[in-house]
Amino acid sequence: MSIVYNEESKLFILSTKHTEYQMKIDEIGILQHLYYGATVGGMDMSYQICQLDRGFSGNPYEYRSERGKSLDTLPQEFTGANVGDLRISSLSIKSANGSRSCDLRYKCHEIRKGKYTLKDLPYVRGHNGDLAIEEDVQSLIITLWDSLIGLEVKLHYGVFEKKDVITRAMVMVNNGKDWIRVNKLSSVCIDFPHGRYDLIHFYGRHCMERQMERVPVKHDIISIQSKRGMSSHHHNPFVILCDADTNQNQGCAYGFMMMYSGNHKTEVEKDYLDSTRLVMGLQNSNFAWRLEVGESVTAPEVIMTYAKNGLNQLSRTYHHIIRENVVDAKYYNLRRPVLINNWEATYFNFTEEKILEIADSAKELGIDMLVLDDGWFGKRNDDNTSLGDWFVNQEKLPSGLKHLADGVRERGLKFGLWFEPEMISEDSELFREHPDWAMADPERKPMYSRNQLVLDMSRKDVQDYLFDRMAEIIRDANIYYIKWDFNRSVSNFYSKALPSDRQGEVAHRFMLGTYALLDRLLKEFPELMIEGCAGGGGRFDAGMLFYCPQIWTSDDTDPVARLQIQSGTSYGYPVSTMGSHVSASPNHQTGRRTSLNTRGIVAMSGTFGYELDLTKITKKEKELMKKQIKDFRRFYWLIQHGEYYRLTDDRDESYFTCWEFVSADKSEALVNIVITDVHANPEIPFVRLQGLDADGWYLVEGTDKKYTGQALMNGGVVFGELVANCGGSDDNYPGAQYHLIRIG
Ligand code: GLA
Repeated sequence: MSIVYNEESKLFILSTKHTEYQMKIDEIGILQHLYYGATVGGMDMSYQICQLDRGFSGNPYEYRSERGKSLDTLPQEFTGANVGDLRISSLSIKSANGSRSCDLRYKCHEIRKGKYTLKDLPYVRGHNGDLAIEEDVQSLIITLWDSLIGLEVKLHYGVFEKKDVITRAMVMVNNGKDWIRVNKLSSVCIDFPHGRYDLIHFYGRHCMERQMERVPVKHDIISIQSKRGMSSHHHNPFVILCDADTNQNQGCAYGFMMMYSGNHKTEVEKDYLDSTRLVMGLQNSNFAWRLEVGESVTAPEVIMTYAKNGLNQLSRTYHHIIRENVVDAKYYNLRRPVLINNWEATYFNFTEEKILEIADSAKELGIDMLVLDDGWFGKRNDDNTSLGDWFVNQEKLPSGLKHLADGVRERGLKFGLWFEPEMISEDSELFREHPDWAMADPERKPMYSRNQLVLDMSRKDVQDYLFDRMAEIIRDANIYYIKWDFNRSVSNFYSKALPSDRQGEVAHRFMLGTYALLDRLLKEFPELMIEGCAGGGGRFDAGMLFYCPQIWTSDDTDPVARLQIQSGTSYGYPVSTMGSHVSASPNHQTGRRTSLNTRGIVAMSGTFGYELDLTKITKKEKELMKKQIKDFRRFYWLIQHGEYYRLTDDRDESYFTCWEFVSADKSEALVNIVITDVHANPEIPFVRLQGLDADGWYLVEGTDKKYTGQALMNGGVVFGELVANCGGSDDNYPGAQYHLIRIG
C-alpha cells in the first residue's frame, strides 16, 4: 500500500519506491508536515519537530500555557492565515464580515484506489489510455476546514509508487453561510525545518528561454512568478530545491512542477529559525475569487519528486511521468512526423505555388509533414492585422486552403496549420463585429503588443466562435496538426461579461477557457495533433503538455543558443516534447554561421524538423539532410524514450556541451557533442558516460573501436579527433554524434 494512515498515531505515510512523505494530525487538529525525502521505512519522523519557546512566536489559544507550541515554528502541510503563522501562507481570504483569518484543522480524509482527476484543469493521468505501462497509483484526499466560516480545503495527493512521484492539488470549497473572497490560491505548501538549500529555477526571455539559475536560499523570500497571463518565457513554473553540493549526478534534490499555463508563483522563504518553506500556486497580485456558498475553486496540480542521486536522476523522473502520464498516451507509441515549416523560409510572403515547391523538395528528402505557418487567413500579410478572422486569405491562396492541403497530401505529406486562437487584431472583421470580445479596461485604451489584443477566453461565446471556426477548417482541409501560437503577454485583464467584483477572476478564467477549447477540439478531432507555441517557448509547461505532445521550444533556432535553451528545458521536460528544427545559416536570429551537421545534431534532440527554404538548398545539403532524416528515424526510440543524461554541467565553464541517450535495456546509446568555443591548441574534451552496462562491450558504430561499459563510465571518453580537425576547417561549432552498440 502506498498510502497508509495509522489511526492511533494519526500518521499518514505516502510511499513510493525510493521516497516517503509523512504528515500527522496533532492534538488540536493541525496537520503537521513531518517529512519528505528518501525512504525512512515508516519511522514516525515527528521526533524531528523540536519546538522551543521562542520570543515573538505566539501560541494558539489551546496552547496558551505551553509556550513552545507555536504555529509560527511548526512545520505544516497547508497553512491558514492571520492565526499565528507569520511566514508565507498558503492562502489569503476575506470573509463577508471583513475578517482575513482562516484557522484550518483536520476534518476527514479518504484513501482511494487510482488517481484523482481535476475538473477543468489538466492533471497527471493515472492510467494513460493504452499505454502498456503498469501503474500503481493511489490517491489521498485530506479535508481541512475552518469550522467557523465553513471553508474547506481539500488537499489532494496522488502517489505514483513506481515512478517516485507524488502529485498535489487543492480544492477549496465554501460550505459556510456567506461568500468568501479568496485572494491567494496555492496548490502546495511544504516545510523543510532542517537543512540548507539552493533554489534552481529557469528564467529567460523571448529567444532565450529556460536559462538555469541557481541561488542559495537565504533569510529572505524569493519569488519566481509570471503575471503575463501565460507561464511565460521569463519564469517557468518549475523549480528545484537541492543541497548546496548537489550536482548532476550526486546529492539530494526536490522538484516542484506546476501543471499550469497561466499566472503562477512560487515563493521560497527561509525563516528566522533557518527553516525553509515553499509555497506554489496561482500568482495573486491580480487575483481575487468570489466563492459563493456551495462553490469550489481548484488550485492546479503540482508534480513533486525527490532524487537522492542528483539532478540527472530528478530530470529522468520528470521525463518518464510527462511522457507516460501527462502527454496523451497515443503519442507514446506513435512516431511523430518529421516536419517542414515554412515560417523562416517565406515568413508572410508565400503563394500556393511556393508552398507546393517546398512540399516537392520535402517529399524528396523523406519529410512527413508540411506546416503552413502564419499568414494564410484574413488579410494577413504582416503581423498588424486579421487575427480572429480564421477564413482563408483569398488573395494569397485564391484556390483555397483545401486545395493547397490536398496538393500537399498528393505529394505524400501530411498537412499542418498555424493558428493563434486566443488573439484578435483591431484591424479584423471579428473586432469590428465584437469589440467587446477583446480584453480591455472599460474607458481605457488597451495595451498593444505585436499590434494585437487578447481575446476574452473566459467568455463562452468567444470559445464557441473559435471552436466553430477552427472545427470547420480542420474538417474541410483535413488538418492533421495545429501549431497553436500565443504571441504576447496579457495585460488589461478585464472581462466585459463579468461583474465588477469578479474581475480578479479573469486571469484564471482565461486559462480555464483556453483549456476548455483545447479539450473540446481534441474530443471532436481525436486524431488531431497540436503543437504548443507562444512566441517560441513562452508557454512551455506541463499544463499545455496535457493537450499538446510537443511545444515549440524557442524562436531562436541557432543551434549554439539552442544548446543552452534545450539543456535548461531538459531539467523538467523530456526531449520528446521539445519542438526543434534545422534552420538556415547564417541564423536568422543571431547571424551565426554553423554547419548543417551541427544544426542536425542539436535539432535531433527534440521532435526534429526543418524550417528553411528547401527550394534553395545545394545538392550536398540535400544529401546530408536525407541522411539526417534517416538517422533520426533510426534513433527515434532511443532519443524519444531513452534515458537522458546531461554530461556537461551548465555551471562548468566548458567549451563544449555533451549529452547522451541510453536505451532502457542499455543495449545502445547515442552520445552527442558540440564544441561551442573553438580555440587554437585546445584541451581535449573529456566526459564520463553514464547508464551503460558496466560489464558489456560497446562498439562505436562505423568504426572498429570497442570499449567496456566500465571504461566508458569510470575512465571516460575523450574527443581528441573532433578538436584536432578544427584547425583549417570552416566549421566553427563542430559537432559529432556517436552511436554505441552493445556487442557482448
Ligand atoms: C511566433 C512563433 C513563430 C512563428 C510566428 C508567426 O513567433 O513562435 O514560430 O509561428 O509566431 O507569426
